[in-house]
Amino acid sequence: MRIILLGPPGAGKGTQAKTLAEKLNLPHISTGEMLRQMSQEDTQLGEHTKDFMNKGVLVPDELITQVLSRRISQPDTKNGFILDGYPRNLNQAQALDGMLKEKKIAIDLVIYLDTSEPVIIQRLSGRLVCSLCGANFHIKNMPPKSNMTCDNCGGKLYQRSDDKDETIRKRLEVYLRESSPLIQYYDERQKLYRIKADEASAIVLNKIIELAK
Ligand code: AP5
Repeated sequence: MRIILLGPPGAGKGTQAKTLAEKLNLPHISTGEMLRQMSQEDTQLGEHTKDFMNKGVLVPDELITQVLSRRISQPDTKNGFILDGYPRNLNQAQALDGMLKEKKIAIDLVIYLDTSEPVIIQRLSGRLVCSLCGANFHIKNMPPKSNMTCDNCGGKLYQRSDDKDETIRKRLEVYLRESSPLIQYYDERQKLYRIKADEASAIVLNKIIELAK
């Protein structure tokens, strides 16, 4: 099964995709995660990537599309995948359609996590991420058992550099302009399912699982 999780920053795409990937035994492909790794490399490309991300704007389509194309050609995607963070605009959606057509496969389900702005801001400003395994926590909503340490692997938790107030605002603006037209794009192709995602994580997960059955 090939699933896209769509939604604004903080909608819970990463949180849900991780659990869903385990339950369905499919790879979780997060372009944000891949770019964060690239941005740590001591190269010009790494520096450029970090710059785009810290400003809260999208990295160029050609760059991320090339990265994604390589990733979905790996053998572990044979039975499907869960896409989190791609596509991010209509150009990327068309590029993805082209890649999948060449492979004679298609997206089965696009799940739009519909989240309100106050919830987005509360979630992003309190998010903590594990520096080793990438697990997500939240200071209030999903606090780690032990202060600033990952429950799963013991890694140190950190706040993402793009989770500062000003960058959150910018990311929301970019989402509304660039990414929200994807809702209509997939609706017109009868792939889109909407889920109210302001609710607790377990409730949202159950709704996604129902759709993926
Ligand atoms: P990316 O990493 O994809 O960030 P994003 O889309 O802004 O989404 P987030 O990761 O912020 O939020 P999320 O929906 O995954 O929420 P999460 O589960 O973490 O991209 C970062 C940057 O990379 C972009 O700005 C861009 O520069 C670049 N980029 C990435 N892909 C690109 C592309 N295709 N093209 C160009 N550029 C690209 O949850 C958030 C918090 O809320 C967590 O603390 C979590 O614990 C908590 N939480 C989650 N769900 C719930 C719930 N139901 N109840 C209570 N708390 C919850």
